[in-house]
Amino acid sequence: MKVFILNGPNLGRLGSREPDVYGSATHEDLINYCTQAGESLGLEVQVRQTDSETELIGWLHDAADAQAPVILNPAAFTHYSYALRDACAMLAGPLIEVHLTNPAAREEFRHTSVVSAVASGVISGFGVFSYILALQAIAAMQPVEK
Ligand code: DQA
Repeated sequence: MKVFILNGPNLGRLGSREPDVYGSATHEDLINYCTQAGESLGLEVQVRQTDSETELIGWLHDAADAQAPVILNPAAFTHYSYALRDACAMLAGPLIEVHLTNPAAREEFRHTSVVSAVASGVISGFGVFSYILALQAIAAMQPVEK
């Protein structure tokens, strides 16, 4: 089972980006944690990051075609990208929206997610562990093989 983990703008700067808010783990660390967690859960994980809305939407189209589960941190696009939301609505597999921080506890503009209504679920506020929890949820949702 292949799982797409898609990260939006500025998440490539993790580690140096506002470490007091986002922590000290780099995007490379995030890839390693997710890959290891995926292996132990029997999931093949592919982590991608882009600052481009166009590219992110293209990856969501790929995931829709592959009927693959998606773990998506839309970053700032969360709060205003209807194009991203429409791409999410096309997905055939489960979609888990993740955030490192808890946007509900931050500035007002972060309280709105245009993606949440088309997600299977949302995990926020656990740092890099938000992604691991999302992988665990996807593994738990898979039918047991006979
Ligand atoms: C974020 C929260 C967003 O509000 C912000 O724009 C991000 C990161 C998070 O993971 O906590 O870039 O999605």
